[in-house]
Amino acid sequence: MKTILDFARARAAARPIVMVTAYDALMARIVAASEADAILVGDSAAMVVHGLPSTIEATLEMMVLHTAAVRRGAPATLIIADMPFGTFRQGRHLATQAASALIRAGANAVKLEGVTGHEEVITHLVTGGIPVMGHLGLTPQAVNQLGGYRVQGRSAAEADQLRVEARRLEELGAFALVLECVPAGLAQTITTELSFPTIGIGAGSATSGQILVLTDLLGLDDRFKPRFARRYLDGHTEILTVLNEFSRDVRAARFPAREEVLA
Ligand code: KIV
Repeated sequence: MKTILDFARARAAARPIVMVTAYDALMARIVAASEADAILVGDSAAMVVHGLPSTIEATLEMMVLHTAAVRRGAPATLIIADMPFGTFRQGRHLATQAASALIRAGANAVKLEGVTGHEEVITHLVTGGIPVMGHLGLTPQAVNQLGGYRVQGRSAAEADQLRVEARRLEELGAFALVLECVPAGLAQTITTELSFPTIGIGAGSATSGQILVLTDLLGLDDRFKPRFARRYLDGHTEILTVLNEFSRDVRAARFPAREEVLA
């Protein structure tokens, strides 16, 4: 089992950290057998698995169920689970309850978006034994505040703010930081200024590691093709092709074949 200490070691050794999301046991089992370092049970589950409009709709119950399923599929993998929208903005007590539920379900650490206004919660979790991964830049739970899914940190003022927030997360004891959709130069500056690892998504190549949403990497959604998410497979077309093959086989009485029929 890799631990959060391996993240620090990877950063010190300049070995890129590889993360992907997973939401269910079967996919988690495949990721666990791969060379990836860790799994994020992202609140992207709300959109990817449940077809909801944004990550804001992810609930704690949903995240606990996905985390438990991923743990069953990947018993020895480092798992980080997203704290859902709102669960870390209602004080230390409720945040600890939510984070504890995710840890009990099988997560080794939690990820939460932003820092301003919940510094105390982060300290409380970290000092209580719950490792925290930060998430800055495009923080999808704040889509209504950000006015859409846009690159963050393009202006000098925004960039300075992100640098300050990243340093603050390090001071508060976060073990790593996801930087989403920020200019590559800014991600590089932030990575250089910090001593803990940064994990980029749409943040260029100078971060300490990369994360992709598994369904993007597998090309399962033909409607969502962000430029930064390389599709290693055209999963949508591949699956469609075999489903049509199956349909044609059934209709032409080619399935089931004699050896597929039970006596
Ligand atoms: O929920 C998620 O999948 C994420 C990644 C995009 C980093 O937060």
